[in-house]
Amino acid sequence: MTSILVVDDERSMRDFLKILLVKEGYQVETAPDGSQALALIEEHNFNLVISDIRMDGMNGLELLSAIKERTPALPVVMITAFASPDDAVFAMKNGAFDYISKPFNVEEIKSVICSATSKNDQMAEARSISEAFPEIIGESREMVKIFEMIKRVAPTPANVLIYGESGTGKELVAQAIHQHSNVADKNFVPITCSAIPEELMESELFGHVKGSFTGATSNKEGLFQLANDGTAFLDEIGELTPIIQTKLLRVLQEREIKPVGGTQIQSVNVRIIAATNKILEEEIMAGRFREDLFYRLAVVPLRVPSLRERKTDVPLLVDFFLKKYSKLLKKEVQEISSYAMEVLMNYDFPGNVRELENIIERGVALESSTIILPESLTLSSFRFGKQEAAPQFNTRFQAVASEEELFERGLEEVITDLEKQLINTALEKSDYSKMRAAELLRISFRSLRYKVKKYNIG
Ligand SMILES: Nc1ncnc2c1ncn2[C@@H]1O[C@H](COP(=O)(O)OP(=O)(O)OP(=O)(O)O)[C@@H](O)[C@H]1O
Ligand SMILES: [Mg+2]
Repeated sequence: MTSILVVDDERSMRDFLKILLVKEGYQVETAPDGSQALALIEEHNFNLVISDIRMDGMNGLELLSAIKERTPALPVVMITAFASPDDAVFAMKNGAFDYISKPFNVEEIKSVICSATSKNDQMAEARSISEAFPEIIGESREMVKIFEMIKRVAPTPANVLIYGESGTGKELVAQAIHQHSNVADKNFVPITCSAIPEELMESELFGHVKGSFTGATSNKEGLFQLANDGTAFLDEIGELTPIIQTKLLRVLQEREIKPVGGTQIQSVNVRIIAATNKILEEEIMAGRFREDLFYRLAVVPLRVPSLRERKTDVPLLVDFFLKKYSKLLKKEVQEISSYAMEVLMNYDFPGNVRELENIIERGVALESSTIILPESLTLSSFRFGKQEAAPQFNTRFQAVASEEELFERGLEEVITDLEKQLINTALEKSDYSKMRAAELLRISFRSLRYKVKKYNIG
């Protein structure tokens, strides 16, 4: 049951809110001042606090900061007087979930409370499911969907095809599926299809017997023997040659293998997780990938979203990689400046999480203070380095003439302006082929098309 704490020094107001909220099915406690409110918060697990701003003693804004310090996840809704909009702004800046102004509109109160508590529920749910996957950072809706999918598919023997752009975490997902499976105590054996020359691939997959080819000096087990009763992870499956595709298909159908040069057939029981950053349907259309093999592998298809589709995870990932690399590189860099964070939030990460990881690793390595500044970020499509960037920037692209102008127009407008110039340049360079321009800018075609439409370019 959702429980709410109402804080107001005026008794009639406390009673009014209590009656209203109890009628709505909430459990309600009340406190007449900030210190009693804090004491109650210590004892109870509230889902929401509603507090007046103007109170004697500790005022509502002080209470808000005390709550944000102790239990930052607890949403607080402030009650403000209609006549003082500054209070509302201040409250929002200091972490209030929302505010309602007096005189009350009952519908408004209900809807604010409803969204505060349901947001809280969603966040708690996201946090609790993500706790089951400590290696995979993310609490966005997109990642929660992935976690739910992993939980559902892991205990089944179904083959899974994981697809998504490079650097999105496909290998981490494959490992998580194995760890949550019923064969977690058996082997998880990865193989990168593109890294093995065709003539060795068959032996890598199915093993070989001594003397079967030059260099086969002893019997060797292949992927299917090593992963027997466990999981085989076939990375970059889109790179398999037609001959190997056919052989693999046969193994999946018959659940039997024959080592290269061998005569004995061995039966195998292997769960296959495959991954690719290609769109296999396109490969099938182009005649490069067997459709029947695709259906055997993609019993459960699982798409890992790009980082630009789940920007809300960027701060969590930054935090995670900051800790990882300050420890690894023995540096005291613990934080990222808010401007640097804004730069990252506005970046679209063509290389996804791997690129963000590299950016933070380099940032930690380069930074001489304890906080990462924008200058220490090296983004693949932009260099924010002090020395290299400035001249290049000014000669070719003029986003802002002076500091005064920057502060007057504001970051959003300046970045938008620069973005338009850069897109125009790329379009000119590529004879207005959006496909080619997107490549030059190292963003996806979709994202370019969206921007061109949004800015009404071309
Ligand atoms: N959600 C995540 N949380 C923490 N680290 C992540 C996450 N996603 C990716 N990484 C890290 O980013 C790097 C790339 O991840 P991974 O190798 O799983 O990507 P991939 O999708 O297999 O990429 P590719 O298609 O290029 O092989 C790894 O170092 C991985 O640990
Ligand atoms: Mg990979």
